[in-house]
Amino acid sequence: MKKICLVLIILLAAGSFVFASGAQGGSGGAAAGGSALIGIAMPETHVLRWQKDGASLKTEAEKRGYRAEVAFGDADQTQQNRQIQGFLTQGAKLLVVGNINDGVNSVIADAARDKVAVIAYDRLIMGSADYDYYITFDNFKVGQFQGQGIEQGLNLASATAASPKYITLFAGSPTDNNSKFFFDGAMSVLNPYIDKGVLKVVGPYPKTSADNANFQRIATENWQAPLAKTRMENLLSNDARDVVLDAVLAPNDTLARAIIEACLADAKYAGGKLPVVTGQDAEFDSALSIKNGQQYMTVFKDTAKLAEAAVILADQILKGQTPNVPGASLASGSLTSIGDTGRKVVKAYLLEPVIITKNNISVPVNAGFYTDAEAAQLR
Ligand code: BGC
Repeated sequence: MKKICLVLIILLAAGSFVFASGAQGGSGGAAAGGSALIGIAMPETHVLRWQKDGASLKTEAEKRGYRAEVAFGDADQTQQNRQIQGFLTQGAKLLVVGNINDGVNSVIADAARDKVAVIAYDRLIMGSADYDYYITFDNFKVGQFQGQGIEQGLNLASATAASPKYITLFAGSPTDNNSKFFFDGAMSVLNPYIDKGVLKVVGPYPKTSADNANFQRIATENWQAPLAKTRMENLLSNDARDVVLDAVLAPNDTLARAIIEACLADAKYAGGKLPVVTGQDAEFDSALSIKNGQQYMTVFKDTAKLAEAAVILADQILKGQTPNVPGASLASGSLTSIGDTGRKVVKAYLLEPVIITKNNISVPVNAGFYTDAEAAQLR
């Protein structure tokens, strides 16, 4: 009798272990012989990085013996939801999702119901309690670098209220949680100069993203370059008509180039005296523009490293291991809130961005971020 009881206890314990790992979305990799399907949902292709992210994620997953499929949502959440539903129907064991807006939550809930683990990739999925992991760069730092670029480029430390510098502000998509981090990081550097009167804002001035009404006025729906270009043209012929702009806070390279295009079509700037324009992503076209003295700076986020780290995290989750991601640090202390979706605090893993100006374009080049032909043009 004692023996039967012991066997029963062991069986029950084993059963609850399987259940527990299933609840973490853990019935993939090891158990399924490594051929489990990972569904990769990327938000868009009009910003180049996502094409690279999609390709790197697929390669990294396949390198580790998984099957992987990539879908791009074309900045349309309904389309991305259909793609994610498709992954679930095909029996995907884990999803890597760079979402478009909060409309993704219904399919994230479906994934949780199917015990499929979700990693929010680069962008935190807000308002959901149905997933546990987030991996990204330190986005507040990205914004701080943009602010520092302007600080250096305009030599704000020596600027005076008698002869102030003029700036206009742009932000990314209002539906992308990262946009707030970028903006608040940049303004944490710029606000003290604005308060002192040595830097003046032309056009709407949200001091932080918490000023939602003004933030919406400077935001760029779905990171669409034509919208930023039109807004810049309007600023140049209205609010900024009677001043010469010294700087434009642009949240990424795609929008930076659209803003520069608008400036170049204006007689005041066409001669080459462009404002200091910021960016991020170290896109080749912007790196070249920096080398040629047009765009002032960018931020290098090595997305190949992000993809590799995300797949290492995925592998560990699928194997039911406690995640330990080389090259990424688990946000703790005051950074823990980076994983706060508003309904739950998920584990957030952070990689480090690098500020890039004309002086260190070699950093992304040497990291192998460009094709050989592109790299040759940047050397
Ligand atoms: C990413 C940026 C990118 C932007 C537009 C953000 O969420 O962090 O790297 O430029 O989306 O796609």
